[in-house]
Amino acid sequence: MAILKIARMGHPVLAMAAKEVSDPKAAEIRNLVNDMVETMLDANGAGLAAPQVHVPLRLVVFQAPDERADPGLGEDEQFDHTAPLSVLINPQIEVLSPQTEGGWEGCLSVPGLRGWVERPAHIRYRGLGLDGETIERVAKGFHARVVQHECDHLDGRLYTSRMSDLSRLIFESEIRHFNSEVGQVAS
Ligand code: NI
Repeated sequence: MAILKIARMGHPVLAMAAKEVSDPKAAEIRNLVNDMVETMLDANGAGLAAPQVHVPLRLVVFQAPDERADPGLGEDEQFDHTAPLSVLINPQIEVLSPQTEGGWEGCLSVPGLRGWVERPAHIRYRGLGLDGETIERVAKGFHARVVQHECDHLDGRLYTSRMSDLSRLIFESEIRHFNSEVGQVAS
């Protein structure tokens, strides 16, 4: 296990489309996932995509409350490290409702900043796990946001490119001025 170097905004690996993982069960994929999880936890992130550690493959890890375990999924839902850890290989997202929701996001590749991002509020996602099994889940709230944020990395997109109002791109130390609006993601 190792803590990997995280690419920062401006590095070309963050702006390119990542490639499909051809063999999810390969030993090097399992090793990469182990290192990504260690890196994510060390950096106190909610999620991490392989391009963020300079590996342009379609693979993400994240922690989000399981919907069945937490049917509330309200606006005050907060990230915490007790949430189940998920690995998703070659993920696909389907938007289930036209409804969108705003929330503050951060990104380990854009350190020190937060931005207000509107995203679809209700999605279904599919992908493969490390044993090659199919994972399919419906997600709302924080869970839906973190999955969309991570999968955007696989298409070379950072959350800043999803923002409609750049006056809401702020330093995280100033977020107290907006503390009525919660739901932060650092991934
Ligand atoms: Ni990110």
